[in-house]
Amino acid sequence: MDQNEKKYRVARAALAFVPANAIVGVGTGSTANFFIDALGEQRASIRGAVASSEASAARLRALGITLFDLNEAGELPIYVDGADETTRERCLIKGGGGALTREKIIAAASRQFVCVVDDSKLVTQLGRFPLPVEVIPLALAQVARALTQLGGRPVLRAGFVTDNGNQILDVHDLIISAPGALESQINQLVGVVTNGLFANRPADIVLMSTPHGVERF
Ligand code: 5RP
Repeated sequence: MDQNEKKYRVARAALAFVPANAIVGVGTGSTANFFIDALGEQRASIRGAVASSEASAARLRALGITLFDLNEAGELPIYVDGADETTRERCLIKGGGGALTREKIIAAASRQFVCVVDDSKLVTQLGRFPLPVEVIPLALAQVARALTQLGGRPVLRAGFVTDNGNQILDVHDLIISAPGALESQINQLVGVVTNGLFANRPADIVLMSTPHGVERF
């Protein structure tokens, strides 16, 4: 089974967690896109969605799904999104698509965060995937110096601007033995908007596509 087939299957498995008449938090990326397409087939049974990026908003809109602003929608019953890495403890690295800040806001506003991945994303320790950090452009150099002091090797994501008008440093070579502490430490750096560690608010459920079916942990 190829990776796209795995993403398709796990995205469809997440539909079972969507309550009737819900406003659904929707993530960003190729796995989230499969979820959006599946949601489109069930749009009569939901009220609408809150999107974590302009790209996901456009895809939802094209399928006729009503979009809500998070400030109007209030607390959401469910948020469904992919990840770049997950541990069995459901701590994640996200932000490969650059939407980490809105993703983290919507995850924080949701009662249940269902993360949908294929089995290539499972790791025993986070950090093989470079950690995305969204930074206010004025602070790029000073934040890069601070991340280097933390043992990382920050690389500017060239030619990329986030939906919030900021830039991304992808931080290689970090040793992430205490993800919650590192998440807080990086978020304390002046000029950092947020980083892609989802450890202080991990996923509640990870659905992972394998050749033998969808596993839950
Ligand atoms: C976007 C994300 C995505 O969830 C992450 O990059 C995984 O993407 P994909 O489903 O395409 O593998 O965090 O900011």
